[in-house]
Amino acid sequence: MSDNILFTADPGKALGSFLAEHQYSSVAVLVDQNSALHCYPLIQNNLPPHHVIAVPAGEEFKQLGTCEKIWQKLTDLHMDRHSVLIILGGGVLGDMGGFCAATYKRGVDFVLVPTTLLSLVDSSIGGKLAIDFHHLKNHIGVFQLPALTLLYSGFVTTLPYLEQRSGFAEVIKHALISDRPTWDAIRKVALKDQPWSHLIEHSVNFKAGVVQEDPKEKGLRKILNTGHTIGHGIETHLLNENRKVMHGEAVAAGIIAESWIASQRKDLLTQNELNEICDYLLRVFGKIDLREADFEKVAALTLQDKKNRGNRILCVLLERIGKPVIDREITLEEVKRALQFYSQLQI
Ligand SMILES: NC(=O)c1ccc[n+]([C@@H]2O[C@H](COP(=O)([O-])OP(=O)(O)OC[C@H]3O[C@@H](n4cnc5c(N)ncnc54)[C@H](O)[C@@H]3O)[C@@H](O)[C@H]2O)c1
Ligand SMILES: [Zn+2]
Repeated sequence: MSDNILFTADPGKALGSFLAEHQYSSVAVLVDQNSALHCYPLIQNNLPPHHVIAVPAGEEFKQLGTCEKIWQKLTDLHMDRHSVLIILGGGVLGDMGGFCAATYKRGVDFVLVPTTLLSLVDSSIGGKLAIDFHHLKNHIGVFQLPALTLLYSGFVTTLPYLEQRSGFAEVIKHALISDRPTWDAIRKVALKDQPWSHLIEHSVNFKAGVVQEDPKEKGLRKILNTGHTIGHGIETHLLNENRKVMHGEAVAAGIIAESWIASQRKDLLTQNELNEICDYLLRVFGKIDLREADFEKVAALTLQDKKNRGNRILCVLLERIGKPVIDREITLEEVKRALQFYSQLQI
């Protein structure tokens, strides 16, 4: 699995060498308007003759209509089974472009070149490809590994601050579930001063190791869901209410709420560890405005989490920093109390 993940300081050169080795019949590069502007110029001159396929940026385009346009373009360009699609963009392009490549003519090779922090540390690793379907997120998709995942941390520099911060929540999650020294290093530094290439490498190696052990999410891989049971509930509820927050903001709030349950209801995390988590996450992410009326709705949504069994809410909780435990049952009442705790925190 980790064989086809490559860290590079020069993405153009690395791609050029990969393509020279592989002799594909044709090459297309998938971009959106932002990756076309900020990232494509860094690789353009190293590529052999190629086509560029451009789609609009945004989650709302991660759907069948855009796939049809991509498949049509691949067809118009006469791309055969021995061609390759290079996907240069964030998680939206990676998920959708990978899905298109994995299904076009029963599958052509694709290369992921993730350009957002979230895609560098999370979505480009693990082979999950999907599109949204009628408001159901990641509803249609497949598991398929790319021929190469090329990781260049320099792409992070052109990302808007809020996109950086949103992806940072996954970096923090990976540290909290893997090792205390990394968490300690992260929490002493402000977001803008984080050593990205080092942190990206840590996050990727950690996630790749987990995925290798449990590719189809039967057990261990569930630890990557830390902060997401309640985080997804918050994200979905606020979207339904037209008060959209970014994924990472919701995950940060979810990590705090789930840590409260671990510490105050399950005798896992210590009070000191809970304080450390709350202090740092609030400092970086601020607080989402959640009120009494929201708690019930968020709790009800956590009950619908894909990872549950029957009517029980199963959650990953931290036993201590660096050590998650999976499939811990939590109750609706505990979720509501945790949200109340979150909403009363002082920044
Ligand atoms: N497959 C998985 O395992 C997995 C895991 C987590 C998330 N995801 C998916 O990832 C998606 C979110 O990905 P995302 O956060 O990267 O969003 P995104 O792909 O929408 O990118 C965010 C924004 O940044 C822009 N952008 C990209 N690279 C840039 C750069 N270097 N400089 C400036 N702007 C740039 C994009 O055009 C976009 O406007 C969701 O659809 C989610 O479902 C998938
Ligand atoms: Zn996430």
